[in-house]
Amino acid sequence: MGDDGAIPNAKQRRYWDEVAPSWAESQARSGQISGPFGDAVLDALRVRVGERVLDIGCGTGGTTRALADALHPSGAAVGVDLSPVMIEIARASVFHGGATFQVADLESERPEGAPFDAAYSRFGVMFFENPVAAFTNIRGLLHPGGRLAFCCWQGVAHNDWMTVAAAAASEATGEPPRRGDPGAPGPFALADPARIEEVLGAAGFSLVRIEPIEGDLEWPEAEIEEVVAILSGVGPVRDALSGPGVDASVRDRVLDALRQRLAGFLIDTEDGEASGGEVSDGDTSRGTDGSDSPDRAVERVICLHAAAHLVTARA
Ligand SMILES: C[S@@+](CC[C@H](N)C(=O)[O-])C[C@H]1O[C@@H](n2cnc3c(N)ncnc32)[C@H](O)[C@@H]1O
Repeated sequence: MGDDGAIPNAKQRRYWDEVAPSWAESQARSGQISGPFGDAVLDALRVRVGERVLDIGCGTGGTTRALADALHPSGAAVGVDLSPVMIEIARASVFHGGATFQVADLESERPEGAPFDAAYSRFGVMFFENPVAAFTNIRGLLHPGGRLAFCCWQGVAHNDWMTVAAAAASEATGEPPRRGDPGAPGPFALADPARIEEVLGAAGFSLVRIEPIEGDLEWPEAEIEEVVAILSGVGPVRDALSGPGVDASVRDRVLDALRQRLAGFLIDTEDGEASGGEVSDGDTSRGTDGSDSPDRAVERVICLHAAAHLVTARA
């Protein structure tokens, strides 16, 4: 049962309905944080033309469109999300013959179009109230032996984009950062690989593989307001900006704290070689030595480390 005793995951639905418009904007921004992770999941899923693929927690539909492109010309990508507002935006913005969208709670509901050959998710699987029930339901939406691939965040400490946001919100509001139950629904619910194994095993998945994917996400210093906008749309900064009694002065304080924290992540790079958000298996080097070779201009970039798990399994 959900928090209000009526609709499972009702709190999540409300939250994502509210977040949806800013989520759509942040998807359109250059260097949005989750993009390269979603690409890694798409590679791992190895979709084939003609397949039917489910996009779990598809949000505003960008990933469903990428799936439909990969399945073109004859497959079907079905984006499913708990939030009606997310799906409304996806339907309005994604014009693609191979992509369709439905509102459903994948913890318990069976969307139209099942069974699927494969299921994909970019950060859409960490918000279930009962993850074993949800993954059991998702397994039941796949053909026997069907493929599952998703990414979910590693712990907070491995993700500068979250530590910087939490520190800025806490500094500006005077509230200590929230430390809830590490397994509670939220971006870090599946941070522990042992829990992923346990949940997927209990849900009946086999051949579970978990690999780290991580990288340094970089933006030119001049684009600091892009990063501020991305980090303000969700999580602790959004919470600090949307509480009761938030006026212009609170807003300025929160955003200034965020800018100052981000300044602590500036590094010098040669020729402004920002990664544009590439991620790779394993660790990556964090910046350059700022060499002052006469042929190379040194440019400062904001460099935030981000780390996720890439998970694959079979139904
Ligand atoms: C972090 S967002 C990711 C959205 C999208 N995958 C992307 O990468 O842009 C998480 C999404 O999962 C959806 N979600 C959460 N719980 C869900 C559930 N029980 N069933 C279906 N979708 C759910 C939310 O509504 C939200 O759109």
